[in-house]
Amino acid sequence: MNNLLDVKNLFKTYQKSTGLFSHKKIEALKDISFHLKAGETLALLGETGSGKSTVAKILVGIERPDSGEIQFDGLKIDCCDHNATNRRIRYIFQEAARSLNPNQKIADILHAVLRYSTTMDNEQRQQKIAETLLLLGLLPEHANYYPHMFSGGQLQRVALARALILDPKVLILDEALTALDPSLRAQIVNLLLELQQSTGLSYILITNQLRLVRHMADQTMVMYQGRALDYAPTQQVFKAPEHDYTKKLLASSPS
Ligand SMILES: Nc1ncnc2c1ncn2[C@@H]1O[C@H](COP(=O)(O)OP(=O)(O)O)[C@@H](O)[C@H]1O
Ligand SMILES: [Mg+2]
Repeated sequence: MNNLLDVKNLFKTYQKSTGLFSHKKIEALKDISFHLKAGETLALLGETGSGKSTVAKILVGIERPDSGEIQFDGLKIDCCDHNATNRRIRYIFQEAARSLNPNQKIADILHAVLRYSTTMDNEQRQQKIAETLLLLGLLPEHANYYPHMFSGGQLQRVALARALILDPKVLILDEALTALDPSLRAQIVNLLLELQQSTGLSYILITNQLRLVRHMADQTMVMYQGRALDYAPTQQVFKAPEHDYTKKLLASSPS
C-alpha cells in the first residue's frame, strides 16, 4: 500500500531572543523523515522540547520548515497552504477542549468550521453536524449546548467533532489525551480505535505515555533534541530498542 504521508528530511530552527540585541538558534528539528499509511497510527514519543509539536505544526501549515519535503497522497504539499492541507490533516492539542469558545453553542462552532472550509448550504451543514455528533457518541440535542454544559469526556468528544467534521485523513493528537482521567481516556481511546476501523483514519499520536503508545501505535518514532532515534514498528521499539536513550526511556516507565 502506498504511503498517505511521506515526510522527508525536515529541518527547522527557531530564533530565540536572549536579550535586546542577541538571539540564540534553537535547532528544533534535525533531519526528520517518516511515513504514514492510511488506517495506521504513528507515535511520536519523546520528552518535552524534543520537537514533536514542531512536526505537527509543520504538517498543518502553522510553521514552515527550513527545508524538507512533505507529500500527501503522492502530491507534494506547499507547507504553508493552510486551507488545502488543513482539511486533510487536522490537529488536536492538549487544550483543545478548553479552547472552545464558551459563548458559542456547539452548533455555531461546527457551522463556522464548515462555512469556512466548505461550500455546504445551511441544510447540508446541519446534516453533517448531526452525523458527526452521532459518530462521536453525542446526541443531536448537544448541538444546542454551550461548552460549559458538558462533562470533561463529552467536551473531548466535541473537540474531536470539530476536528473530524471536515473528514480529514490524518488526525494529529498532540498530548490530547494526557489531561483526561484514566477511565475517560480509555473511553476516548476506544472511540478513536473504532473510528479508525470504520473510516480508515490515520493518527499521529504525540505523547510521553508509553502505555498509550503500546496500545494504539503501529509505528513509533522516538525523538530526542530534534532528532529521530529509534523508528520502527512499535513492538520492535519496545522489545529491542537500539538507542541507549530509548532503553532508558522505556526503563523509566512504571509499566
Ligand atoms: N515559536 C518558537 N520560538 C522559539 N522556540 C520554539 C518555538 N516553538 C518551539 N520552540 C523550541 O523548539 C524546541 C522543540 O519544541 P516543541 O516542538 O514544542 O517540542 P515538544 O512538542 O516535543 O515538547 C524546544 O526547544 C522549544 O523551546
Ligand atoms: Mg509539544
